[in-house]
Amino acid sequence: MSRTRTSDVLVVGGGIIGLVTAWRAAQRGLGTTVVDPEPGGGAARVAAGMLAAVTELHHGEQTLLGLNLASARRYPDFAAELTEATGLDLGYRRCGTLAVALDADDRAHLRELHALQAQSGLESEWLTGRECRRLEPMLAPGVRGGLRVDGDHQIDPRRLADALVVACERAGVVLHRAWAERLSVVGGRAAGVVTGDGTALEAGQVVLAAGSLSGRLAGVPEDVRPPVRPVKGQVLRLTVPAGYAPFLSRTVRAVVRGSQVYLVPRENGELVVGATSEELGWDTAVTAGGVYELLRDAHELVPGITELPLTETRAGLRPGSPDNAPLLGPTALEGLLLATGHYRNGVLLTPVTGDALAHALATGELPDEARPFTPRRFGADALSEQLV
Ligand code: GLY
Repeated sequence: MSRTRTSDVLVVGGGIIGLVTAWRAAQRGLGTTVVDPEPGGGAARVAAGMLAAVTELHHGEQTLLGLNLASARRYPDFAAELTEATGLDLGYRRCGTLAVALDADDRAHLRELHALQAQSGLESEWLTGRECRRLEPMLAPGVRGGLRVDGDHQIDPRRLADALVVACERAGVVLHRAWAERLSVVGGRAAGVVTGDGTALEAGQVVLAAGSLSGRLAGVPEDVRPPVRPVKGQVLRLTVPAGYAPFLSRTVRAVVRGSQVYLVPRENGELVVGATSEELGWDTAVTAGGVYELLRDAHELVPGITELPLTETRAGLRPGSPDNAPLLGPTALEGLLLATGHYRNGVLLTPVTGDALAHALATGELPDEARPFTPRRFGADALSEQLV
């Protein structure tokens, strides 16, 4: 072992979730290190950045909705604080979202979503096809109706990640650029990690926040290993040339033949089109089929899209969990906490995750809003409770 470094908190993973945890921990006076070969990388470099608590509501996810809404409410202050701390603009836009239907099946699906939103006390407005096109003139003439959700906003996840790196550095977080190879467990508690560059990083508490890789760290005992799996998403980036604007003024989305497609327009002319959802293990290849399906579905919604330059194609891995909700806070292994499993909501849940983890690191307890997301719901204790 070449070197040893000690801190109060060691965060394994420097994506947006690991970085926000480290930033908030450092703000509470905890000496914090992040270990990651490329801080600011990960799934956020691919994500579109929709803050879609209302339009991505699903049956059976009412508990998750509470956390999503809590995080959405925090976004304005969170973004302002991060910009103040770094001087960086995050591309946070309160532009709203329009979910549209292209045929009778889509319309029935959207009507169901509208009813679920109303039951859940969420604001959304049903629009006819004509009203949708009045809002967004580039929409296809065949659009049959839609839901206007002014409360679902967007942020640029790459800018968010870059700003969190700067905020961490300014708050005194040590960024150790290496792979974490193995968790060290000493005397029955997590005590740090050993890295690929031969350094032993020791800490009073370890937060495993490595996205879809969180289940793969060697040395994590089986009963606390997070049950996360990679769910591949292919995403395209196009450019709306200056003078072509306004192409779209808000996020537009639809379910086409059972697949989600969304178009997220940035102020700088970038148009993000996503995303596939594929259970293919660790594969991150961009495929002809993935690009074809996204463009085909996006073209059905907004035919003019085929005239735009296609500037980037990329695939990332969402950290999926068994109930589509994150795993937050202390585990049954003393000193080991989790911040992973955010699946489709990592960008949205960034503010609330940072607050919840910093609270847990400082007090040993999760705040009330995060308690349902304890990793213990999947542990051996939870299973034996279910069996009695
Ligand atoms: N939340 C969007 C996605 O995961 O594709």
